[in-house]
Amino acid sequence: MPFDLQAYLANHREIINNALTRILDTTGQDNRLIEAMRYSLMANGKRLRPILCMAAAEAVGGPTGAVVPAACALEMIHTYSLIHDDLPAMDNDDLRRGKPTSHVKFNEATAILAGDALLTLAFQVLATAKKGEQGDELKRLAVIARIARAAGYLGMIEGQMQDMAYENQQLTQEELEKMHGLKTGVLIRASIASGAILAGGNDLQLDHLDEYARSIGLAFQITDDILNVEGDPTIMGKAVGTDHLRSKSTYPSLLGLAPSKEYARQCIQKAIKALQSFDQQAEPLRAIARYVLDRQR
Ligand code: IPE
Ligand code: IPE
Ligand code: MG
Ligand code: MG
Repeated sequence: MPFDLQAYLANHREIINNALTRILDTTGQDNRLIEAMRYSLMANGKRLRPILCMAAAEAVGGPTGAVVPAACALEMIHTYSLIHDDLPAMDNDDLRRGKPTSHVKFNEATAILAGDALLTLAFQVLATAKKGEQGDELKRLAVIARIARAAGYLGMIEGQMQDMAYENQQLTQEELEKMHGLKTGVLIRASIASGAILAGGNDLQLDHLDEYARSIGLAFQITDDILNVEGDPTIMGKAVGTDHLRSKSTYPSLLGLAPSKEYARQCIQKAIKALQSFDQQAEPLRAIARYVLDRQR
């Protein structure tokens, strides 16, 4: 029977959404801050990073239940980054995940603080997951360090700094790729590594999975740039045409639309090739690679 990606995504989204709801509920608070955190976190995100985390755990033959807290932490970090990315000081966007952005719905201070709180809660969840839920302690520490590095000054935040600094500049492909690698690539790589580490993957498996992760991370960003040109904002739940408006360097602006699509396709082929030593248990990762390319949002 062919692998049913839609069913897989729906099933894993539900697991993540239930776990995220539980995490917010167990804060025991129902104030304006939690309301703002819940508003962005429980909006209609694709949950790509947590699903990749779980799929990587499956690929190395481990139980996925054990990686759910890490998967949730990754989604909280990602959501915080989007809340801050949308702020007037950054991209100044009004629409995210099909809803008014946090600072529009609440106010700027609340959006900043909701982002801060999601980032901190992510590490709280990573560090306090119940015994038996996340493999052994050394693995858990390795994952915490890996996610911290990916989200921090050497990773995503530096990527955001470069993204801001490079507005109105035409970058070389090398510079663009480096910036995207930091801005979006490292968190995607950390998502896959976390799942595989916690599920007991060996070094060789981790290397192959990281090669897969690098390639889909790049393809994800190229597709994001393409969707910003020709995507449907009602499907995407965010504005399109904004890269051009802000004079951002993108793959379509650098290479043209058709060559960008071809480049993304090659990245996906490379990603699937990186999984050749894996068996059927990596089928979700292969299907997700194709989805990264074909997605409409
Ligand atoms: C959007 O990420 C921002 C980028 C890193 C390009 P996603 O496309 O994964 O957004 P959601 O989580 O589905 O909203
Ligand atoms: C957002 O990147 C990436 C992070 C928040 C790290 P973009 O600004 O390019 O993505 P969108 O278009 O707002 O989703
Ligand atoms: Mg941005
Ligand atoms: Mg943005």
